[in-house]
Amino acid sequence: MAAASEPLDPALQSLVAFWRDAGVDALYEEAPVDRTLTQPKPEVRPIARIAAATAAAPVAAMSAARAPDVSAGIAEAHRLAAQAQDLDQLKEAIAAFEGCPLRYEGARQAVFARGNPQAEVMVIGEAPGADEDAQGFPFVGRAGKLLDRMLSAAGLTERVFITNTVYWRPPGNRTPSPQEQATCAPFLERAITLVRPRILLLAGGASAKFVLKRNEGILALRGNWFEWRAEQGGIVLPALPTLHPAFLLRQPQAKKKAWADLLSLTERLDQTPSEALQTET
Ligand code: URA
Repeated sequence: MAAASEPLDPALQSLVAFWRDAGVDALYEEAPVDRTLTQPKPEVRPIARIAAATAAAPVAAMSAARAPDVSAGIAEAHRLAAQAQDLDQLKEAIAAFEGCPLRYEGARQAVFARGNPQAEVMVIGEAPGADEDAQGFPFVGRAGKLLDRMLSAAGLTERVFITNTVYWRPPGNRTPSPQEQATCAPFLERAITLVRPRILLLAGGASAKFVLKRNEGILALRGNWFEWRAEQGGIVLPALPTLHPAFLLRQPQAKKKAWADLLSLTERLDQTPSEALQTET
């Protein structure tokens, strides 16, 4: 196997590009492997040694091991996010962040956001997919095109900022885990603080459940207004869960529910005076 720094053989590169263009974006072995039988037992290390190693150099330890510790990752995300003074710096901070496990599972690049940096509405999706991973922007594939058409029909195109709960594509487009979302959450909260939207629109169950800390499914949550509170305090915003556009592509008959959600959102936007940010009292 080639070392990580060696360029790929051109013939191999072209073969990989061929399969990618044909829609093959994940590789699996033909036969299932029972890893409970074949994996060597993990080394048992005394807790004191682990604590000393991670306390000494948490980020270096993360990149060396390629298996970041979740709490070290969250702490590092908080530190980096707090330093970002604007959205460009936040994008750079995310690209430099080594604490999210998804970064090491085949993603090509970090995918942060697109849209109006002073938007009144922040749309928060679940995770980048293959098109987003290739282009570096959220919601640019088929689901994104549908989202754009719906936002345009509701007159919201210029009024939204679009991002996700995680910034790297989960392999095989699986749902991001709550741990992966937790390591990226300080960046999301910082994005909300910097953009100062008036409303959050949560697209899909994995977004709504994580952002609102709820257990119900998206069909129960959608269309209902919730209050989102920043963990760091100081901000309270109305949040509306809605159906994910990828779900609408599979179940077009559900589009009327998503449309009703968008109408509820525009009604609230136009009713509420344009306070820049609600602050906790
Ligand atoms: N689905 C999402 O939730 N986000 C994207 O950016 C693309 C697809």
